[in-house]
Amino acid sequence: MTHALSRRALLRGAPGFVGGLSLAGLPRFAAGQATGPASGPPSGQRAAAGVPARPAIRLAGNENPYGPGPAARAAIAAATGDSWKYPIMEEMAFKAQIAEREGLSPRHVLIGDGSSEILHIAALLAATAPGEVLTATPTFDLVAVQARAAGATVRELPLDAQMRFDLPALRAAVTPQTRLIYVCNPNNPTGTMVSGAALRTFIAALPPDITVLVDEAYLELSADMATESMAPLVHGGANVIVARTFSKLHGLAGLRIGYALARPDLIERMTRLKLTSVSSLGLAAAAASYGDMEFQAASRSHIAEGVALTTAVLDELKRPYAPTRGNFVFFDTGGPAREFIGAMRGQGFSLGRPFPPYDSWCRVSMGTVEQMAAFAAALRGHFG
Ligand SMILES: Cc1ncc(COP(=O)(O)O)c(C=O)c1O
Repeated sequence: MTHALSRRALLRGAPGFVGGLSLAGLPRFAAGQATGPASGPPSGQRAAAGVPARPAIRLAGNENPYGPGPAARAAIAAATGDSWKYPIMEEMAFKAQIAEREGLSPRHVLIGDGSSEILHIAALLAATAPGEVLTATPTFDLVAVQARAAGATVRELPLDAQMRFDLPALRAAVTPQTRLIYVCNPNNPTGTMVSGAALRTFIAALPPDITVLVDEAYLELSADMATESMAPLVHGGANVIVARTFSKLHGLAGLRIGYALARPDLIERMTRLKLTSVSSLGLAAAAASYGDMEFQAASRSHIAEGVALTTAVLDELKRPYAPTRGNFVFFDTGGPAREFIGAMRGQGFSLGRPFPPYDSWCRVSMGTVEQMAAFAAALRGHFG
């Protein structure tokens, strides 16, 4: 990698995600996955019972093991008895709840089977145009994969020297065929972010027929949404789709709820391409979690604590890392990432896959604070 060396000084010791979040007074919720190697039957008994080997601690999916929060758990329990009904009214009420907070109308909101469905539909829109999709690499690659599968041309540009979306390069790459530009902000797997101001300037300079899909899956983990989110552009009628999810901050990945904010005409076109509708339990959990500010603050705090712990040990071991705004840290293992991932799996930790062209870099998702302390000890053992 040509720019790895120049990046190092920049990345090492960069301020990162934590941003001075206070942990004082915040409740610690029971963590769904806080079990790890210390729970379940001993491996001998498991093998004898034909049970597969104990799963690794999941530090691979950018999930939130503190979820679901208390309000979401209570809402799921309360909604179970109504599971025989189609949740039509519930979905309308949930759209209205989101619209109200965003200062938009329910016609600006589309609920998806996770934000994956929103990204998938946006990719289909671009392919049916038909046209070209621009994005970066590495990033969350669902849009590129789905757009290609649907017949679109996809061009993926390298990240900039600070591992961020290279907005000037993307602008320069626009052609008359460009229909969709996908910007993941903060970016997965690097955790890096371009500023809201830079992104607004970029969007304003584009031809108005190009849709910009801004994936804000991780934005609410740390950012000031008022200045960093692109939702206000939707209000102003821009050709923008903002995608958000309940899988990250809200810890509801298994219940598959995401949503899009966009102009009503775009929402209508997207609705026509929907294949599924969401479940009543997912809607109940997400609606309750949306209002559970205490759980959201506690989750932010736990994630920040995990990131601080992880980056502190990386500093100590002099391993470069990208300044993250997500619930994951992307760091340089100094050798083939695949080997490092294998070594950590041997110690019970499941990590993210390699992300070319950063072949020596590895992404670790935040588990519970206790799991991150165990991972920090494993890092010391490996590199120390
Ligand atoms: C950037 C980004 N967008 C979207 C998603 C999809 O999330 P979901 O479909 O669970 O809402 C993910 C999942 O990891 C992600 O990292």
